[in-house]
Amino acid sequence: MLLSITKTSLLLAVACSSFAVAEEIITSDSYFYGDSPPVYPSPRGSGAGDWASAYVKAKAFVAKLSDDEKVNLTAGVTSTTACSGTIQGIPRLGFPGLCLNDAGNGLRGTNYVNSWASGVHVGATWNRDLTKKRGEYMGNEFRTKGVHVMLGPSVGPLGRVAEGGRNWEAFSVDPYLTGALIYETIEGVQSQGVATSIKHFIANEQETDRHPGTNDEGQYAEAVSSNIDDKTMHELYLWPFQDAVHAGTPSIMCSYNRVNNSYACQNSKLLNGLLKTELGFQGYVVSDWGAQHSGIASANAGLDLVMPSSDFWGHNLTNAITNGTMEASRLNDMVTRIIASWYYLGQESGFPGLGSGMPINVSQPHQAVVATRPAAKSTLLQAAVEGHVLVKNIRNTLPLKSPRLLSVFGYDAYAPSKLQLSQGFGFLEIKSPEAYMNGTQYTGGGSGGNSPAYIDAPIDALQRQAYEDGTTLQWDFSSQDPAVDYTSDACLVFVNAYATEGFDRQGLSDPYSDALITNVANKCKSTIVVIHNAGIRLVDKWIDHSNITAVIYAHLPGQDTGRAVVDILYGRSNPSGRLPYTVAKKESDYGGLLQPTVGGNDKFKLFPQSDFSEGVYIDYRAFDKAGIEPLYAFGFGLSYTTFDYSNLKVSKHNSRYSAYPPKASIIPGGNPRLFDSLVTIKATIKNSGRVEGQEVPQLYVSIPHGPKRQLRGFDKVSIKPGKSATVSFTLTRRDFSTWDANAQDWLLQKGQYNIYVGRNSRDLPLSTVLTI
Ligand code: BGC
Repeated sequence: MLLSITKTSLLLAVACSSFAVAEEIITSDSYFYGDSPPVYPSPRGSGAGDWASAYVKAKAFVAKLSDDEKVNLTAGVTSTTACSGTIQGIPRLGFPGLCLNDAGNGLRGTNYVNSWASGVHVGATWNRDLTKKRGEYMGNEFRTKGVHVMLGPSVGPLGRVAEGGRNWEAFSVDPYLTGALIYETIEGVQSQGVATSIKHFIANEQETDRHPGTNDEGQYAEAVSSNIDDKTMHELYLWPFQDAVHAGTPSIMCSYNRVNNSYACQNSKLLNGLLKTELGFQGYVVSDWGAQHSGIASANAGLDLVMPSSDFWGHNLTNAITNGTMEASRLNDMVTRIIASWYYLGQESGFPGLGSGMPINVSQPHQAVVATRPAAKSTLLQAAVEGHVLVKNIRNTLPLKSPRLLSVFGYDAYAPSKLQLSQGFGFLEIKSPEAYMNGTQYTGGGSGGNSPAYIDAPIDALQRQAYEDGTTLQWDFSSQDPAVDYTSDACLVFVNAYATEGFDRQGLSDPYSDALITNVANKCKSTIVVIHNAGIRLVDKWIDHSNITAVIYAHLPGQDTGRAVVDILYGRSNPSGRLPYTVAKKESDYGGLLQPTVGGNDKFKLFPQSDFSEGVYIDYRAFDKAGIEPLYAFGFGLSYTTFDYSNLKVSKHNSRYSAYPPKASIIPGGNPRLFDSLVTIKATIKNSGRVEGQEVPQLYVSIPHGPKRQLRGFDKVSIKPGKSATVSFTLTRRDFSTWDANAQDWLLQKGQYNIYVGRNSRDLPLSTVLTI
């Protein structure tokens, strides 16, 4: 028999008796009351920061609206556009409506656009300037197609769970790197007058149980709850969202999961508290598609816009105002935030018609041709190149030098035989084995996939190179144990690690590909492995094979995938990618963070619980804490040259600092004094090898009582052989602070801070101690 019990009664029962109350199944969410503190009322947008004039215009606009018009603005409609979401227009006031479309790695589901390198690939570039340029060109494509709001980029999942199905959509498992790159992306995209919608807010760290639904036993279960403490929330998961709000994103998408047992899109602590009070967010919160689970409660908790449409709101909003369950000013605030965002981006004039460039079906005439503009070409390619991470290169295997005979193997070397306009990557949310066997994986699956103008597959680019060099190519893409010509100068094996929205991955490697690689290596003395990996891919089954002489994590480069990898293989580009995550020696090294939480048969089976009890110790922070040696450390990547580090200099900007940031009016991003620069750190990097190359100097800080080290600075510099460059890192108050849950503020502790500068999180030749 199912019993409905409260938390108090359970605790009492545990205290008073020894018999097994744990078996009693929780059937009412009242059990969880208090897990997520209530924060009301919902803060009204004030026009803070650079939003003042957008708010003046929006308020004047909203003053002219009827109640019906206001209500219509708060939810999407089924429309005649191809947009993922549409807000209908108000022609009498010159408002055309808004088109929202996926996604953060390029426009999805349409034609004449480019497939850009995906999030994890861009994370691996560690290149701020390139990231911003990519944003500019992507933003321009959205604009040309009449898309007002890019649904992305994603910074959540951050990557807590190694097998997370959507980790590849975001940049890195490190909040600092992710925050820096989201900032540049927003600046780039929004320079084109296109809004970003940063997703998924928040702690959306697994696909498993992301939606409520019927479980295997036919019972209705809620979505997974990410249970997370205040400190971890601030120092890890909220961090990149803070950067996004600071950069001026006008839209944040709340996620499917629950946080501390309250759905993210109706969680007043998250929306009213963290986002709209602490971070001073002036834009609107939009629900992920179908993520609204309550009516007036979600409006009062801070949700402003529902997509793709709302079963709950409509006239219930005005009825709620009449019966007193919602303030009229809240509805005004919802629509003011949405309209202010339109003005904030300057979309009221000169913006192409709503979704006008996106045909609804393939037979419609194509109205906006934007693919591969000459100006975008070099950025498309450069972003594709720089996300390749070379992790093994022995016996001078790479770069290749006009080989006589090159043999190419693997299901990932050629272009997929069929592309579907509506799906980007030709398939959508299909639970698949760990590899996608039907062609090269240039992006991941689901709504984060993008649409290519063409696909330059690895074999295509290798054919062109063979023509130039007079190389003979042999290939076999289908055999798992191919015949290998023993006179091959080198063998290339292309495999992938697939991931998609909708499912978490089923492992960090797959037996088919591992056997293929080993079979080739057994017959070929110089075997080069290229992995298009949508997330962490382990190589433990074959990395020590003496014939495996080079390995590249090629991630998800977008449509220029072949051209990019061949540039690297032949040394036209010197590899400069660095891992934005840790590669372990074996799966079990990720411990409890390997797999998603699967609702078990415990008392919480109707309310799946995922406890983030590791706190801030994920990925390299966890490996450092447990003293586990990774195979390839966070930040690791080889080059065709070598770099020497020297001359570390630290200068404090002041001799004394207050413990907490001085009080100041909140701007988008929070207390502006958090971004005061405290310290400048310089180092000299010398190219000690024989070819020009780009180095990624990384700065880590050990904050007292925190992880052993945390990334707090990085740069990317191109240095000619024999030459040196000075890099300079400016660190802010936030970079040195910890979240003080009692004070509800960022605390700058007095004490000693170890500062490290070097090549990756485990190779840090320079260090010093800073006293604050
Ligand atoms: C995804 C979002 C996406 C939306 C619209 C949802 O299923 O979680 O990331 O933007 O669909 O396609």
